[in-house]
Amino acid sequence: MRLLLLWVCLMLLTGSRSLAVSFPEDDEPINIVDYHYSRQYPVFRGRPSGNDSQHSLDFQLMLKIRDILYIAGRDQVYSVNLNDVPKAEVTPSKKLTWRSGPADRKNCAMKGKHKEECHNFIKVFVPRNDEMVFVCGTNAFNPTCRYYRLNTLESDGEEISGLARCPFDARQTNVALFADGKLYSATMADFQASDAVIYRSMGDGFALRTIKYDSKWLKEPHFLHAIEYGNYVYFFFREIAVEHNNLGKAVHSRVARICKNDMGGSQRVLEKHWTSFVKARLNCSVPGDSFFYFDVLQSITDVIEINGIPTVVGVFTTQLNSIPGSAVCAFSMDDIEKVFKGRFKEQKTPDSVWTAVPEDKVPEPRPGCCARHGLAEAYKTSTEFPDETLAFIKSHPLMDFAVPSVAEEPWFTKTRVRYRLTAIAVDHSAGPYLNYSVIFVGSEAGIVLKILAKTNPFSLNDSVLLEEIETYNHAKCIGDSEEDRRVLALQLDRDHHALFVAFSSCVLRIPLSRCERYGSCKKSCIASRDPYCGWMNHGSCSRVMPGMFAGYEQDVEIGSTAHLGDCHDILPTTTTPDYKIFGDPTSVGSVSFLRFDSCAHW
Ligand SMILES: *[C@@H]1O[C@H](CO)[C@@H](O)[C@H](O)[C@H]1NC(C)=O
Ligand SMILES: *[C@@H]1O[C@H](CO)[C@@H](O)[C@H](O)[C@H]1NC(C)=O
Ligand SMILES: *[C@@H]1O[C@H](CO)[C@@H](O)[C@H](O)[C@H]1NC(C)=O
Ligand SMILES: *[C@@H]1O[C@H](CO)[C@@H](O)[C@H](O)[C@H]1NC(C)=O
Repeated sequence: MRLLLLWVCLMLLTGSRSLAVSFPEDDEPINIVDYHYSRQYPVFRGRPSGNDSQHSLDFQLMLKIRDILYIAGRDQVYSVNLNDVPKAEVTPSKKLTWRSGPADRKNCAMKGKHKEECHNFIKVFVPRNDEMVFVCGTNAFNPTCRYYRLNTLESDGEEISGLARCPFDARQTNVALFADGKLYSATMADFQASDAVIYRSMGDGFALRTIKYDSKWLKEPHFLHAIEYGNYVYFFFREIAVEHNNLGKAVHSRVARICKNDMGGSQRVLEKHWTSFVKARLNCSVPGDSFFYFDVLQSITDVIEINGIPTVVGVFTTQLNSIPGSAVCAFSMDDIEKVFKGRFKEQKTPDSVWTAVPEDKVPEPRPGCCARHGLAEAYKTSTEFPDETLAFIKSHPLMDFAVPSVAEEPWFTKTRVRYRLTAIAVDHSAGPYLNYSVIFVGSEAGIVLKILAKTNPFSLNDSVLLEEIETYNHAKCIGDSEEDRRVLALQLDRDHHALFVAFSSCVLRIPLSRCERYGSCKKSCIASRDPYCGWMNHGSCSRVMPGMFAGYEQDVEIGSTAHLGDCHDILPTTTTPDYKIFGDPTSVGSVSFLRFDSCAHW
């Protein structure tokens, strides 16, 4: 059945004849951190110390602003001071409560929604400046926004409509950001969730949007991220691919770009609609004999510099109805730009195959360019663009080329497990010299993977799976179903060497490293290849602080331990490739896996 599905899925994705395909092999983790160890990590449950077991966090989003982590859930936003050292619980320093009024809740129930859905799920939390944050909630299927003060979490000013800024239904994904004082939002804009929109409002001028119900522009999208970069705002999402001609629906991942100075079209074409909306497919695929696409974007980072190159790093999976498989791919902003400078794609007749538009059929100024810049320099505003340019962009938002991933291969793949990867965070300046990239990825199974990514030269088979960390705390978080264990978001706090891992009912705070687990065994310390850990001259494995250049040994590149003597302690750590369990997990307090020849002498 599984093989068949894989085959069918490949037929759909590649549209080609028979292909001998196998997934790439998975790396074994150097270390496994199991629940017995990770259960010590502090948990945030969104309720004060009391025991109000009815309360559920219903995590929606989190955002770090300087030393504060804001966590938004149902009817509530909490602020956590990152300088506080948590013990068993992470406790909020402030809390904002915003419940839907009785009228909204009654209306919601009358529209046939379940009582549990008729709450105010906070879906937008974007700072407007240093003092104010713009907050929107689903408000019992009547989306509404307000301003709050960042330092006190007190509401400030009138309520504002949340239409086209916040979804009606908490299950929908959405993004929002302020750029040049205007709010860019991407969401479903109606109760039925059929009107997908990328919208700009507030600030001066009138609102602009994508064309309503035009599947060429957006088709059942899941919006995942928005970034302001240069003259543009970029949106990352996945959607049903209109250009996909084979049987069945296929999801593709996209990057879309909009000019910040877009003022909409003329009175004849695209009035009050984007004139610069272009989008392209993101190509996260495994090259070679086992050629395979990971087409479903799950999560993507902000622009980060890797080897000095502005890059975004995303986690992608196979189609949701096929067998699970996940990959981490990086894309440089330059490669994204190159695709937007390339050919457009079109479908000449409703049943024909999509093909590239010949360059001589593309009008001038080039569609997708910003007024006053580059090829559209001669135009003061987009409202002056000629009808041909506007009409072209209206019917050709899709680029022909897909954006290739850096080095045209994933950084990491995970395909031999039953779960998919769901969330990503990258520390691109790890280790004492701040020159390593460590990727954290969350999964459906509550496991967080910690990967050392080789960036120079960038290579898949050189990335190292350092740790597999079982993070979900079923004793402290509510529920133990598959949905409850799904990692919804990751937030890095480098200053405090911590990673926040969000589940629906709780947020965990885990350290970026666990050097102490290697105790006084030099061999396992060095073999861990962990850029955060080093073997100290005084004879223990400890954290290596940024800027610490002497007094310890570390071998991130190779982790060579052949020259090292064996240790005689029983170590509550490490793993062996064949997963032999030594010792009784319940008595040792953590399962004792031992790696190769490293430390064991029995
Ligand atoms: C905990 O719950 C019990 C039963 O619901 C209640 O009687 C008790 O007062 C609660 N304790 C606190 C600290 O809220
Ligand atoms: C995606 O990238 C692979 C590897 O470079 C390439 O073979 C394939 O043709 C690309 N697919 C698309 C749709 O561009
Ligand atoms: C990081 O810097 C150190 C010291 O210069 C060097 O030994 C190491 O090879 C560097 N690693 C990478 C990945 O550049
Ligand atoms: C694996 O690494 C080696 C050495 O760095 C390189 O020659 C080879 O092309 C790599 N293979 C793949 C599939 O990336």
